[in-house]
Amino acid sequence: MINKTGQFIVLDGPDGCGKSTQTRLLAEWITGQGWEVVSYRDPGTTAIGEKIREILLDPSHTAMTDTVEVLLYMAARAQLWAEHIGPDLEHGRFVVMDRWLSSTCAYQGYAGGVGVQKVLAVAEAALERVWPDVTIILDVDVETARQRMNRDLDRMEQKGADYHTRVREGFLAMQKHCPNAAVIDARASVERVHQGVCEYLKAVLGWQNV
Ligand code: TMP
Repeated sequence: MINKTGQFIVLDGPDGCGKSTQTRLLAEWITGQGWEVVSYRDPGTTAIGEKIREILLDPSHTAMTDTVEVLLYMAARAQLWAEHIGPDLEHGRFVVMDRWLSSTCAYQGYAGGVGVQKVLAVAEAALERVWPDVTIILDVDVETARQRMNRDLDRMEQKGADYHTRVREGFLAMQKHCPNAAVIDARASVERVHQGVCEYLKAVLGWQNV
């Protein structure tokens, strides 16, 4: 073991950035370093969170406001913390997340117009812990992302190119708000992006000779 306690790691970015694949690869890599690792998706994972996710992504819910989105995403996240993340970190496990609060800042705060400060105020009120130890933003342009998403789009994905351009800008501005955040170009190959993610993590955690 290199450190005594596990860390709270988040991979985030625009739709189509490849973060689900990168989250799985990173969890496998940290496991290979001898750590106990758990990995979750936000929103979701818990029974309550998965139901909230269905409500959020249902394309028929066109009336949903950006503020309601903030509250629902935050509710799913609070439940995920209570059931999994909090206890896991207490047990010294590594938690590798597919999305977190950085998404609410970029989508609802920045692109949706709620404002990042308002999102952060809701987060402070609702969450035991606001920011992870490390956040890695996988950056992809809207056109590349669109080509990768060759399937039926959910309600958030259907919001259009202007919205998703602002989402990307919101993620690129995240280092202003979020400690230990890095942006990695996610247009490269899966293996190259994975290497970049591992290199950044090693640097932040001070893991030498790994
Ligand atoms: P996923 O498919 O990457 O799991 O994310 C579900 C969708 O929800 C995706 O379009 C991004 C969006 N989202 C937000 O708008 N705000 C948030 O806080 C989170 C976590 C996701």
